[in-house]
Amino acid sequence: MIQKPRGTMDILPEDVGVWQYIEETARKVSAKYGYSEIRFPTFESTELFARGVGDTTDVVQKEMYTFTDREDRSYTLRPEGTACVVRSLIENGRCSDTMPLKLYYIINCFRYEKPQAGRSREFFQFGTEMFGAAAPQADATVIALADSFIKELGIKDTKLHINSIGCPECRPKYHEALVKYFSDNQDKLCPTCKERLKTNPLRILDCKCPECKALAADAPKTIDNLCPECEEHFGGLKALLDNAGIKYEIDPHIVRGLDYYTRTVFEFICDSIGAQSTICGGGRYDGLMKQLGGPALPGIGFAMGITRLILALKASGVEINSDNAPSVYIAPMGQAASIRAFELVEKFREAGIYAETDLVSRSLKAQMKYADKTGAGYTVIIGDSELESGKAQLKDMKNSTQTETELDKIVDYILNEVR
Ligand code: HAM
Repeated sequence: MIQKPRGTMDILPEDVGVWQYIEETARKVSAKYGYSEIRFPTFESTELFARGVGDTTDVVQKEMYTFTDREDRSYTLRPEGTACVVRSLIENGRCSDTMPLKLYYIINCFRYEKPQAGRSREFFQFGTEMFGAAAPQADATVIALADSFIKELGIKDTKLHINSIGCPECRPKYHEALVKYFSDNQDKLCPTCKERLKTNPLRILDCKCPECKALAADAPKTIDNLCPECEEHFGGLKALLDNAGIKYEIDPHIVRGLDYYTRTVFEFICDSIGAQSTICGGGRYDGLMKQLGGPALPGIGFAMGITRLILALKASGVEINSDNAPSVYIAPMGQAASIRAFELVEKFREAGIYAETDLVSRSLKAQMKYADKTGAGYTVIIGDSELESGKAQLKDMKNSTQTETELDKIVDYILNEVR
């Protein structure tokens, strides 16, 4: 038997309802905040992620699905959406549009990670990006959008963690302090972090290894080393969140796994879903557009993992029913009745009502059993005498009551009942 690749998933019809619920809610909440949808290719030039996400990140170094095509060009299945959106805006000349530009996407992404609950190799994100707005009001709006979406879904018990990781102005001083701190304790670092000390010391703060974690707990904090502008920006964001009643914790250990972030970074955590508890990750990336060859436009956004949202919905006791039971099942007996039944189900469907009839030549008894199994609201049997009189018994399956109905008026009758 051919099996799906490890770390991918089939979403079967009985499970698809919750995906549609999340997608519909994402579209609804995005629209309330003035975001428009953007779609972009599933694969992009490898260079886009190497330059955008960062050469020294785990995503680029270990997790990309990269291939060369028949003409020896290197492409990568998108591991995330932000770099793709930035590329698309530059390429399509949209950077001089009226600002801010607000975009959202619902995409599949690919990372070669160790699969576990809430972590897969093909995964799905709802993401948003805002461009051209540098003020803390933009950060607060993006966080409010994420918060509002999570609440609208019905997910309970999430925590918002925020941090500021500074800008190119204050980062060198912070890096210096960090490198000094970790160099003094180098013997306690794991081999990967010893390497990170040379390439990207900020990443050590994110290491899951217990010794590095313990060391990171006392490391210098970015928020204690911000330049006055970054300090003011972070203060502005906190004031806006406080005033709007959006609760947060300052978490000096959020550094995020991608290199493009500046200033604000944030995560929404849901502790009840296990080790992969970050349902949303985001932040500001004011240098990315320029780095990818566009104008110096600031940006800020987030992405949420849809499988993690599903786990969080389950933990919150939110159940989404994916059943699609027909409102009416028409059971014909004989060729002429079958023709009339086809005409009638199409009339029902035109009127927006889900109707079914026999497609596999079942006996009347088998048809009634099938109608019952599908959960049909009403059934109607049509044979020669019903065709002749133009009337049939409409059975209400819930109450087991029967009503004589004219076949020509049956659609209107059900429309009135359904209303
Ligand atoms: P990220 O933190 O790499 O950020 O991913 C965002 C979210 O995607 C995570 O918080 C998690 O919920 C989900 N996720 C990531 N990897 C996996 C996986 N292997 N399996 C299941 N879910 C996963 C970004 O991707 C940034 N582009 C977010 C962003 C947008 N920042 C600014 N704008």
